[in-house]
Amino acid sequence: KKPFSALQEEVLRLKKERNAVILAHNYVANEIQEVADFIGDSLGLSYCARDAKADVIVFCGVDFMAETAKILNPSKTVLMPDAASGCSLEESCPAVELAAFKAQYPNAKVVSYINCSGAVKALSDVICTSGNAVKIVEHFPKDEQIIFAPDRYLGSWVEEMTGRKMILWDGCCCAHASYKAEDLKALREEFKAPIVCHPECKKEVRDVCDYVCSTEKMIAWARENPSDTIIVATVEQMIYRLRREVPNKTFIAAPAPNSKSLRCRHMDKNTLEKLRDCLRDMSPQVSVDEVVAEKAKAAIEKMLSWSK
Ligand code: 13P
Repeated sequence: KKPFSALQEEVLRLKKERNAVILAHNYVANEIQEVADFIGDSLGLSYCARDAKADVIVFCGVDFMAETAKILNPSKTVLMPDAASGCSLEESCPAVELAAFKAQYPNAKVVSYINCSGAVKALSDVICTSGNAVKIVEHFPKDEQIIFAPDRYLGSWVEEMTGRKMILWDGCCCAHASYKAEDLKALREEFKAPIVCHPECKKEVRDVCDYVCSTEKMIAWARENPSDTIIVATVEQMIYRLRREVPNKTFIAAPAPNSKSLRCRHMDKNTLEKLRDCLRDMSPQVSVDEVVAEKAKAAIEKMLSWSK
């Protein structure tokens, strides 16, 4: 295990002083993953946030994740290294537009992907993540009409997995949606290795891949897959986590168009310096409107209980 840098030591000292817990998404910088108490996908981190006992939760991820932590555990101070780390999926689905859309389908249930605002969660019957979307949708009777927001590619994957049609909101993750099927095909030819991708990828990209799953599930899949080399089609920092968890295999980050790997510009706003600063200054803090939080909490808690 390599020693901590001076800045990492400072973060760990401040963390202790503040009685804080550091939650980090699989997509954040390596040096943040190294000081985190928990690293995981949106689902795993939601459980960690709900159950956190420390006074302070520092969420190294994006705003909807930190907001979810605050909604689930409102008595805690929730900090984010950079309050401007948002999500293109979240931007694609303003709550007022979803409310108008919902009014067109008065009998439909709304299942929203966790990558959305608190206000959208408050309009939803239940939330899902990529790790449990299939299970959540299957929880509804077959003939129940479902609006699925905001990711149409995750939605279409869930449609394939469950064999049921849904009413899809037209949003996407601009990073994952940039992958091209022919590039991944060429990569498979070059390395003769299987490809795992995230369900936010387009259908034609998913069809080229060997397995589609949430970031956390990629670890178990990689461990069990007989190949020594695995191509990973998601945000690059996932490779660091995979290499730590499955050290005997070679992981290759699938390059995105015009770039050697896929990056999320919002996740990249999380730096070790900003993590140190937020613990030192106890800012920026996450807050959620009380009325929104109460409704959103019901939808998130329903997800946590259904996905057990
Ligand atoms: P996971 O829940 O699979 O980690 O996905 C989070 C995300 O935002 C993917 O872009």
